[in-house]
Amino acid sequence: MPSPMRLWLGCLGLAACIAAGNAARAESGGLTLFDRLGGEAKLRATVHEFVLIMESDDRINFTFANTDLKKFEQLLYEQLCNLTQGGCPYTGRDMYTAHAKLNITNAEFNALAEDLYEAFDRVHVPYRLQNKVVAMLAPMQHDVVKDHPVSQNPAVAK
Ligand code: HEM
Repeated sequence: MPSPMRLWLGCLGLAACIAAGNAARAESGGLTLFDRLGGEAKLRATVHEFVLIMESDDRINFTFANTDLKKFEQLLYEQLCNLTQGGCPYTGRDMYTAHAKLNITNAEFNALAEDLYEAFDRVHVPYRLQNKVVAMLAPMQHDVVKDHPVSQNPAVAK
């Protein structure tokens, strides 16, 4: 049973989150990033283009050799929809688990980001919105990549 103090702090936290969310929405005319990207149709088209581009990108396509790409496309859509406040539940695995056995490098991570930019270009999503999405994905690099320099830096390694 949570104490009254914890409940109170929880309410304060929630209120702050709602206020921050409202401020972000007010700044963007009440629209979520999902809306501004063009909603479901545009985001699904982006993810579809991304899969086509990735399939012909020899820098990274080999990592998807044993992957059900239809399922991957759906999960990536759900994840991007969820991250951009489109309200979709994400039903896939967490990023660390999904990529744990793939030995992905920073170069491959960057190649995937480039492919995503190209996919957004193909469906005419403005560059500044593309950057907002990529900025949301950037922190995942640590979970996806095996050779990330951060963990190899003795100053910050655990
Ligand atoms: C922030 C960057 C990334 C995001 C948001 C992302 C997202 C996802 C998602 C949503 C899935 C499906 C999870 C599931 O199967 O439950 C997945 C799987 C996968 N990702 Fe990524 N990914 C990223 C980076 C990369 C990179 C850089 C590569 C390789 C170059 C990669 C290769 C794969 C492969 C091969 C799978 C399928 C694994 C399997 O079939 O078991 N991903 N990713």
